Amino acid sequence: MTVKPVLWLPRKVSDATIARAHENYEVILNEADTPGTADEIIAMSAQTDAMMPCHSEHFSAHVVGQLDGRLKILANHSVGVDHCDLDALRGRGIVVTNTPDVLSDATAELAMLLMLGAARHAVAADRLVRTGGWDSWSPAFMVGKQLTGARLGIVGMGRVGCAFAAKARGFGMDVHYYNRKRVSPEKEQGATYHETVESLLAQADFLSLHCPATPETQNLMNTERFCLLPDGAVLVNTARGALVDEDALLDAITSGKLAAAGLDCFKVEPGGNAAFAAHDNIFMLPHIGSATTRTRDAMGFRALDNLDAFFAGGNPKDAL
Ligand code: 8YV
Repeated sequence: MTVKPVLWLPRKVSDATIARAHENYEVILNEADTPGTADEIIAMSAQTDAMMPCHSEHFSAHVVGQLDGRLKILANHSVGVDHCDLDALRGRGIVVTNTPDVLSDATAELAMLLMLGAARHAVAADRLVRTGGWDSWSPAFMVGKQLTGARLGIVGMGRVGCAFAAKARGFGMDVHYYNRKRVSPEKEQGATYHETVESLLAQADFLSLHCPATPETQNLMNTERFCLLPDGAVLVNTARGALVDEDALLDAITSGKLAAAGLDCFKVEPGGNAAFAAHDNIFMLPHIGSATTRTRDAMGFRALDNLDAFFAGGNPKDAL
């Protein structure tokens, strides 16, 4: 009988993922579903061959330096890997994988929800009806901003950016984008490429962020860049909170430079930014871009595919 590798699942991944994990691994579950702390991660590394972390488990250089040599692979249950110090992990010979592709549509759908909700006063309108305060109507009431024919600026034309562009085209939007490199005509689908973020911002009636959080993209949207947007623009962020200077965002909302914002990501998670709550034109969700049943299963399965390939002696498809 072959001994199964031991796999730690620090978070409550989908039931289908857990069931499949049991087939090939000795699974250790964190029933409490609390984020794995540095101490837990270090302790578990001595008992496990593999881990399937989410973005809520942080593998800083400090943590990685203390990992036990038993741990061989981190099969992330996320596309983003900004919670992992990749250089430090590489230095320890630990393989790292992520889950690209499978969450692009779910995240793009949520970006559309945020864009529409921000543009059409979803927060204030829902509360008005819900609280029984809706006692009058006027043509001047809850007038929002229309997507049809508007210019959408996308920062980061990767998988999620392309999926969002496709959905936005269905709404009749004129898609513009910035990416480090121009993408192929198949991916572009007629979208207008901008060589600089600044050039894109000047055109973006709506702006949606889809790039990873790296040292270079930290506070990408700062005071200077908010100023470049057309007056009354709408910002959407389903990528990472690190991309936005939240004080600059508040200033842009308060001054009216931004008409609205739709945010699924914040600098502090969980929790968000309490100062945003005073503004009904900031429509907020708690980092649930990929949270659909179908996508959670697909993310878990993709992580397991990577683990299976690794333990079969091959190269995981999504090795970074
Ligand atoms: C996930 C995400 O919800 O994949 C990512 O990078 O941010 C989210 O889609 C989360 O990381 C699940 O582990």
